[in-house]
Amino acid sequence: MQQVQAVVARAKGEPVELTTINVPDPGPGEAVVKIQACGVCHTDLHYREGGINDDFPFLLGHEASGTVESVGEGVTEVAPGDFVVLNWRAVCGECRACKRGEHKYCFATHNAEQKMTLEDGTELSPALGIGAFAEKTLVAAGQCTKVDPEARPAAVGLLGCGVMAGIGAAINTGAATRGRSVAVIGCGGVGVAAVAGAALAGSSPVIAVDIDAKKLEAAKANGATHTVDSSQVDPVEEIKRICAETYEGAEGADVVIEAVGRPETWKQAFYARDLAGVLVLVGVPTPDMTVPDLPLIDVFGRGGALKSSWYGDCLPSRDFPMLTDLYTSGRLDLDAFVSEEIGIGDVEAAFAKMHDGSVLRSVVIL
Ligand code: APR
Ligand code: ZN
Ligand code: ZN
Repeated sequence: MQQVQAVVARAKGEPVELTTINVPDPGPGEAVVKIQACGVCHTDLHYREGGINDDFPFLLGHEASGTVESVGEGVTEVAPGDFVVLNWRAVCGECRACKRGEHKYCFATHNAEQKMTLEDGTELSPALGIGAFAEKTLVAAGQCTKVDPEARPAAVGLLGCGVMAGIGAAINTGAATRGRSVAVIGCGGVGVAAVAGAALAGSSPVIAVDIDAKKLEAAKANGATHTVDSSQVDPVEEIKRICAETYEGAEGADVVIEAVGRPETWKQAFYARDLAGVLVLVGVPTPDMTVPDLPLIDVFGRGGALKSSWYGDCLPSRDFPMLTDLYTSGRLDLDAFVSEEIGIGDVEAAFAKMHDGSVLRSVVIL
């Protein structure tokens, strides 16, 4: 066991606190990771606000990279010294979903079995099974994916959550490719990553939609060919018009990614699709939201698909090293998502900045 400094949310709505926690030595199948960088995500704030569950105290932070310090018995995935990006859940490799090659639907995912604790022995709930606003954290070895150690920790750590969700929504879920049009509604960190993913895949046009002009600038800098301010114009008509300009007869975009998580933007995405288009929902709705009232004939009248993208439908062992290599070779600008590097004591200040629109990601450097 060892003691490290970490950011803990003790009670609903209370500001987070920098405190000492106990990190056990890794047991069978576990690893202790020395964290180098961890992005501040909306989900951390949702935990602190009690919006996810009531399992306080939470050890926050979950978009992280670091170096494996030690591993427990039977660990073969990683070894001490490996530079890794962390993912939410290790897959089992043995259930029906894993056996048919669809690890993203694994029925038996797991995290570390042992618990990290506060100094008084209270068990901590690590955010998304990680808890990486900490000098060191304990995870299941399968939550660690080795990536190129030359990569900047702050940039590749973001692959552990929001950036992966966005890029994966475009590439994995939406199957964006060259010869296809993509529209992204909502250009926060997730939406801009979806724009970058669509551009990386060679799609054109890549249409970014938001109600905030600053967000549209960020989307443009990351590969959007067109921007639509939906506070000024009808985004459905604009998307249809732009797509028809490129592909004669197109009735909308081949892929529309909803990255806000609201019924009204989902409805825009539904109608902005080409007849055979795919709608990808990656924004996370709240439990009280319902599918907008739609004439069933409008669902029938279009083919295509209505999909959701969970964690960008990623396979960390495939996607983290691949995207890291695209980053180090200059084809994917992950640095664009790192708006500022901050200290471990600045997480609360980063939460406050989240809503002013200027920050894609604040990243804690350790
Ligand atoms: N139309 C278009 N864009 C909108 C609208 C709207 N009606 N309402 C909000 N937006 C834009 C905001 O201006 C912002 O740029 O959606 C974006 C949301 O971005 P963020 O709040 O930064 O959220 P982000 O981290 O990108 O996550 C997006 O995915 O992970 C989930 O919980 C997260 O639901 C959220 C979504
Ligand atoms: Zn499984
Ligand atoms: Zn996150």
